[in-house]
Amino acid sequence: MITQPPLAIAILAAGKGTRMRSSLPKVLHPLGGRSLLEWVLQSLRGLAIDRKFVIVGYGADQVKQAAASDPSLEFVLQAEQLGTGHAVQQLLPHLQGFEGDLLVLNGDVPLLRAETLQHLVERHRGNAATLLTARLANPGGYGRVFCDAKDQLTQIIEDRDCSPEQKQNNRVNAGVYCFHWPALEQALPKLSTNNDQQEYYLTEVVDYLSPAIAVDVADAGEILGINNRKQLAGAYGVLQRRCKDALMEAGVTLVDPDSITIDDTVEIGPEVIIEPQTHLRGQTKIGAGCRIGPGSLIENSTLGEGVTALYSVILDSRVGDHCRIGPYTHLRGQAVVGDRCRLGNFVEIKKSSLGNGTNVSHLSYIGDAALGEQVNIGAGTITANYDGVNKHKTVIGDRSKTGSNSVLVAPITIGSDVTIGAGSTLTQDVPSQSLAVARSRQVVKPGWHAKTGPSPNAGLGTESSESAANNPEVKL
Ligand code: UD1
Ligand code: CA
Repeated sequence: MITQPPLAIAILAAGKGTRMRSSLPKVLHPLGGRSLLEWVLQSLRGLAIDRKFVIVGYGADQVKQAAASDPSLEFVLQAEQLGTGHAVQQLLPHLQGFEGDLLVLNGDVPLLRAETLQHLVERHRGNAATLLTARLANPGGYGRVFCDAKDQLTQIIEDRDCSPEQKQNNRVNAGVYCFHWPALEQALPKLSTNNDQQEYYLTEVVDYLSPAIAVDVADAGEILGINNRKQLAGAYGVLQRRCKDALMEAGVTLVDPDSITIDDTVEIGPEVIIEPQTHLRGQTKIGAGCRIGPGSLIENSTLGEGVTALYSVILDSRVGDHCRIGPYTHLRGQAVVGDRCRLGNFVEIKKSSLGNGTNVSHLSYIGDAALGEQVNIGAGTITANYDGVNKHKTVIGDRSKTGSNSVLVAPITIGSDVTIGAGSTLTQDVPSQSLAVARSRQVVKPGWHAKTGPSPNAGLGTESSESAANNPEVKL
């Protein structure tokens, strides 16, 4: 059995990312559900890593905080950002006596596949340096890689340092390197700042390392470096294609894929149909047989099996099996919906729980409420949950029904098997198995219109709007 040398990794994440024109450190810019840094960390899965360094500088505290949930990361400060070579020099005190390999990754290269890095590490055995390269149709902006016939590196020249002739070379440096650390340790102190930016370039180490080998990536789309917002958008396009192709292969129907966006963090069951103009984001799970869209946004939410959601927005919520949602339903704030519920048209549900078989079918706001099973919320029912200072809870028991245009002024508890008359404004609790009506009685005055005398429009089929207001004999 071949014993693997120990492996350390270093992610270069100290740069500001000037070309992003943003105060947010570049590696924290979001790309489809993850930050650039999280993407780079994700690409390392599958490698046996002994130590993981992240070189931080600009916005160091922000970057550390964003990555704090991973206790295996060691942060190394590059107080002044004097170049990629200078960034790696910061590891010298931390890796004294380390006999293994160091895999260096630019923090702004997010699309690398785990297999690509595994392959690079395997190809590295016996080399002093192994560099991931790609042949690009438009190599502009990347360092150009020059090799001899055996892929032995002779030089890496940054785009801005290239002569017009050298710029013709379309083989580029991906910003991913594997080094034998004891060799790199000797080379790092030799770096100069003899270049257009007067920085210490990591790429200069190949002048001091042998053998240094270039390995082409299979799919050049993986090595896209993010220096500006246009490249960020380009990377999003690559990710989307990758993610949607994988979903379609796994049996998910995407109707008009170009109009749909799906984060790679989303899990979708079999036989699901995603209709046009639908966006699935974050930690979202869609159960088997759902039909989502057209025109829906689902973020950080879980949907059971056989759910339909039409023109709806579902955020941070959980929906059971076989629910029918929309058109125009908005679930948010940890709404929890049971099985076989019917929600929408034009319904907002916030931070509320709904039992199985409960319907909120038309024009309602349900906030801070706990609804039992088989509750029927009549059209236009509102939970008045906010008194201007605090939010209050509404509780409705199983099988209760609210009439159309009911207002439930919270805090309020409605028992089970209750019926509420249409147009009621309830301010007090209602016990189970009762009817509650809270509205003024209808007053009918027979012949009232006749007493006001003939209207000027009488016989024309229209009423005078002034007749009641202006006649002193009429008492309303
Ligand atoms: C770098 C490479 C280039 C390669 C390209 C691939 C060098 C000199 N050039 O160029 O050959 O084709 O990546 O995408 O390495 N960083 C630090 N500290 C610093 C400077 C940079 O941590 O002092 C980090 C940045 O945060 C970034 C990464 O290193 O994540 C790369 O830096 P960047 O300035 O984007 O290098 P490029 O010009 O893209
Ligand atoms: Ca870059």
